[in-house]
Formats: sequence, C-alpha cells, structure tokens
Amino acid sequence: MANLSSLLEARYGTTSSGSAAPPTAPTAANSTLETLLQHKSVRNFLPDPLAPGTLELLTAAAQSAATSSNLQPWSAVAITTPSLKSQAATLCGDQAFIRAAPLFLVFCADLARLTATCAQHGTPGTGLEFLEMYTMATIDASLAAQNACVAAESLGLGACYVGAARNRSRELASLLSLPPRVVALFGLAVGRPDPGAPPASVKPRLAQGEVMHRETWEQAGGGGVQQQQQQEEKAANLAAYDEALADFNAKQGRGDAPAWTYRSAHRIATVESLHGRDIFREVLEERGFELR
Ligand SMILES: Cc1cc2nc3c(=O)[nH]c(=O)nc-3n(C[C@H](O)[C@H](O)[C@H](O)COP(=O)(O)O)c2cc1C
Repeated sequence: MANLSSLLEARYGTTSSGSAAPPTAPTAANSTLETLLQHKSVRNFLPDPLAPGTLELLTAAAQSAATSSNLQPWSAVAITTPSLKSQAATLCGDQAFIRAAPLFLVFCADLARLTATCAQHGTPGTGLEFLEMYTMATIDASLAAQNACVAAESLGLGACYVGAARNRSRELASLLSLPPRVVALFGLAVGRPDPGAPPASVKPRLAQGEVMHRETWEQAGGGGVQQQQQQEEKAANLAAYDEALADFNAKQGRGDAPAWTYRSAHRIATVESLHGRDIFREVLEERGFELR
C-alpha cells in the first residue's frame, strides 16, 4: 500500500517552494484512497478484449452511484465492435485511443425512460421539459460514469473520458440510434494499459484553497486588506500551479507545453475553440430536451 503523504504529494505536484500537498493526512492509506488519488487518464491501450463479466461489473458500479430521487435518468451505450467503435472515434475528435480501446462507453442523459413512465401512469410529465431535469440527468450520468471509471481503475484497467462525444452530437446520436430525449454527454474509453507505451502519470491539481472554500466563498469579516490578501493568495496559487504543471509536462517530455492559465484561457477563447459544441443547445432541443 502506498504511503498517503506521497500519494498527496503526487496529486498536488511540487513547485520551487515545495509541495502544495496538505501537510497532514489524518489516516493511513487504504485501497479506495489509493485508487482515487492515483487516477490518471490512460490513452494507450492493448487491443485485448476485457475479461468476461467486466462490462457487467462496471455497469453495476455505475448503477451503485447515488441518483436524484432514484430516478436513474441516464443510460450508456457500450461499443466493442471495431467498425462501429472506429466510426464513433471519427465523430469524437478522431482520437486514436478510442479505436484502440476494447470498450468505449457513451454516457447519455436519458429522459426517454421517464417519458414512458409518465405515459404509463397518465401524468403530463411537464417537469421533463425543464432545464432542471436535463441538469439532473447530466449530474447522475456523470456520477455513474465516475463510479465505472474508478471501478475500472481498481481492476488495473485504464480509462479516458471523451468530451469530444459532443463535437458531432447529431451524427453520434444517429450512429448509435439514440431515441428522442436521449443525448450523448461524453464517452469513456476503457482497456488494459499498454505496458510498451510510456506510462501515464498522476497530473497535479490546483491547490486545495482554490477549489474548497471554507464556510462561505470569501472569508467572512475583514475589510479591504483581507480581500487584497485573498486576491494575492489566488494569484499565487495559479502561478504555483502553472509552475507545478510545467514541471509535470517537462517530465513527460512536453517542456514546450503552454502554461495552464494560458492554455485554459485559450481553450475557451472563441466559438471555434468549442470544436462544434457551440450548437449543443440546438441539438438538445432537436432531441426533445425543451430546457424551459
Ligand atoms: C468530461 C471529460 C471529458 C474529457 N474529454 C477528453 C477527450 O476528449 N480527449 C482526451 O484526450 N482527454 C479527455 N479528458 C481527459 C482530461 O484531459 C484529463 O482528465 C485531464 O487532463 C486531467 O488529467 P488526468 O485525468 O490524467 O488526471 C476528459 C476528461 C473529462 C472529465
């Protein structure tokens, strides 16, 4: 079992001023924490099919996630047939690792099942017309997918999410014969990591203070001086993260990769940077998500 402090250090990376990992860990590591803290996206897969029963186990893990009001408003499509997977890969940013992975799961927001239950019981199903229900479906699909991802990792498999499943949503919906009120949200490529490829490494994350706010977003009380301090702290966090990620990229042989703040700002700079996802709202409406 890996040591919890070293797992945390890897998760936050190091900067010239030391590790950004929290200083104390209140417990010893266990296998769940180890799997979670060692997550890394894997994009190099052996072509071998997964062991029989793996898809069923991943499905059970996904279905074990909590789900709003037990409505379970999600579904997934498991693609293993090489020709279909290749077509899906083309629609998902033409990413080669999707073709290479033996399993490609496409997670969907699914309000079709609830539409049918409303018809069965003669209720108007008006709630399904609201943005709230689409949001609920995306939340529940994401929780389910993450359970499947962690389960795969716990089995020694690797996985990589695929947001590019929204690049050409109409065509993907047609390829997978998705019914009305079902839309593909993202994919998850799953397979055995290729030991012949450079191993994926744990990618550092932002300092905890950037994402975890205590009691209220800004610390209550204090005046201008405290606000100023908080802003300086945020700027320092981002600068330290740029440094930690540059260090990570250099170790991966990508010393020329742009800084995280620069890359992030450019990732969302223009309509073109959305890679076709700017029409996603239209696609949702076409697919029967009314988004009131
Ligand atoms: C919803 C979602 C969509 C993603 N889409 C892609 C994708 O299309 N292609 C890809 O190579 N990685 C994709 N990723 C993986 C992220 O790039 C990766 O999680 C991030 O860089 C952090 O690295 P790590 O997962 O190794 O910690 C996606 C991740 C998420 C959560």
